[in-house]
Amino acid sequence: MPRVLITDNLSPAGIQFLQAAGLEVDVRSGLKPPQVREALKEADGIIIRSGTTLTSELLKDQPRVRVIVRAGVGVDNIDLAAATREGIVVMNTPAGNTTSTAEHTIAMLMALSRNIGPAAASMKAGKWDRKSFTGTQLAGKTLAVVGLGRIGLSVAKRAIGLEMKVVGYDPFLSAEKAAEHGIEVVRNVDDLIGRCDFLTVHTPLTDETKGLINAERMAKMRKGARIVNCARGGIVDEEQLADAIESGQIGGAALDVFVDEPPGDDNRLIKLPQVLTTPHLGASTDEAQELVALEAAEIISGFLLRNEVRHAVNMAPLSAAEMADIRASLDLSRRLGLLLAQQNRCSGVRSAHLVYRGEAATKNTRLITASFAAGLLECAMSEHVNIVNAEMLARERGIKITESSSTEVSDFSTMIRATIETDGGDLTAAGTIFGKQFLRLVRLGPYSLDAYLDGQLLIYRHRDVPGLIGFIGTVLGKHNVNIAHMALGRERHEPGGDAVAVLNLDSEPSAEALAEIRGHAEVIGVELVKLPPAGEPLPWLVGN
Ligand code: NAD
Ligand code: MLT
Repeated sequence: MPRVLITDNLSPAGIQFLQAAGLEVDVRSGLKPPQVREALKEADGIIIRSGTTLTSELLKDQPRVRVIVRAGVGVDNIDLAAATREGIVVMNTPAGNTTSTAEHTIAMLMALSRNIGPAAASMKAGKWDRKSFTGTQLAGKTLAVVGLGRIGLSVAKRAIGLEMKVVGYDPFLSAEKAAEHGIEVVRNVDDLIGRCDFLTVHTPLTDETKGLINAERMAKMRKGARIVNCARGGIVDEEQLADAIESGQIGGAALDVFVDEPPGDDNRLIKLPQVLTTPHLGASTDEAQELVALEAAEIISGFLLRNEVRHAVNMAPLSAAEMADIRASLDLSRRLGLLLAQQNRCSGVRSAHLVYRGEAATKNTRLITASFAAGLLECAMSEHVNIVNAEMLARERGIKITESSSTEVSDFSTMIRATIETDGGDLTAAGTIFGKQFLRLVRLGPYSLDAYLDGQLLIYRHRDVPGLIGFIGTVLGKHNVNIAHMALGRERHEPGGDAVAVLNLDSEPSAEALAEIRGHAEVIGVELVKLPPAGEPLPWLVGN
């Protein structure tokens, strides 16, 4: 039974869901990184929140781990490149905490504008000071929203309800769509900066958004404008924000997130009276935690029990039904990859191109191509290769993988043709699926044929002259190798050219038998290719 490790606090509803689904659950919060590494060795998947950071050191050489689920939105505490390289699918639960985080942002905005934090602290200190805490009305003020995704939009809608004017910037939101929500969008962040009384950021933390709100931009803001960050620490530069507040250029800030969490004792910002802080509470409501925990439990069990891929950030989404539908195509393309890699002896591949024809072109060809890449690399890699990491591993080795599709039917109702460009020339193989699952090799280089794509293959190229089939049968018989199936193909559809025979053998012929076959004057080449037995499950899927 698959085992799920949980290293952060997860709502009990999620844990109960996992147990009811029949998964083994190992809840261990507060682990240090080396302990997380050890615990991962016994896990098929892990659920984390923001308290666990999964670095490349922790993810390296964890062959059992297949999936990481982030109960929440931000995946910046996971080394995505490392997870992908290790073949681990990373998924998140993007929508469960949107409303709570948007509400927290609005709460911060209101508390900031009315000095709720310091006023409450002053009363607790026994004072009755009404003069020091005069605030600012929000109605009629302009709020700039940087990042109008789920939370940004939700904040914008609420701010409009508070009679604020909302201007926003998001490279992926059109002006028409924004206008439907009553938001004016501008073309870049700089167009927002000088126009607002309050600015709130709702982007992910990326190389591009790190320090997005910096000293230069703060200097261009209206004097006394205030800043809210309930997204990720570092989108607003912390040191430069402290400077801008101390100089009076920025009137105050409300922060739920920090570059270091928890922040160090030397964090200047937290100590400033104009700064209101909460310890990453945006999603900390009973409702949001239950929603994300349940969603995390659903998606990890869907993946571990049914190969379902939902909300993956490093792989295309796929339902259990879709996975079942493309399983034979995944198997076919992986076998084509294995075949071409062995024909090439796994060296000097520069690029690969896949052509999908007929029904194959209607499927999720990206994944089928990834499965081909997995087959192509499998025999050459010491690493564990699967459909998550194969394309990345290929790219890292300079192998360019491309595909093209046409739903037009050629000789077969469904066909996948793969060509690899190698230092020694091009190699091509094409396959089809008979019925739902019978895989056939229908083209090998220039030859058309109908061969089985499983087990021990002997590919035997020769001149198309009488007696050669009898010859190979005799040699193999003499060496006690049984032929299970044999397919013949000609280069031209007439006698006299070159021909190929693909034999499925019940056992591997000895070097002596192969030497005898190669010794015949009309034989051009003999290759052995080992493929998985017919119907063998794909190594990286469950229960297929
Ligand atoms: P989302 O993916 O729905 O939205 C992010 C938006 O940012 C996207 O629309 C994207 O186009 C936009 N964007 C990306 N780069 C940009 C740039 N350079 N300039 C302007 N816009 C840009 O994500 P979301 O669910 O809305 O989450 C937003 C942020 O809130 C994330 O950083 C997430 O981690 C954080 N978050 C924090 C809490 C919390 O507890 N404080 C809770 C949930 C989410
Ligand atoms: C998130 O990205 O979802 C948030 O940071 C909330 C959290 O993990 O608690």
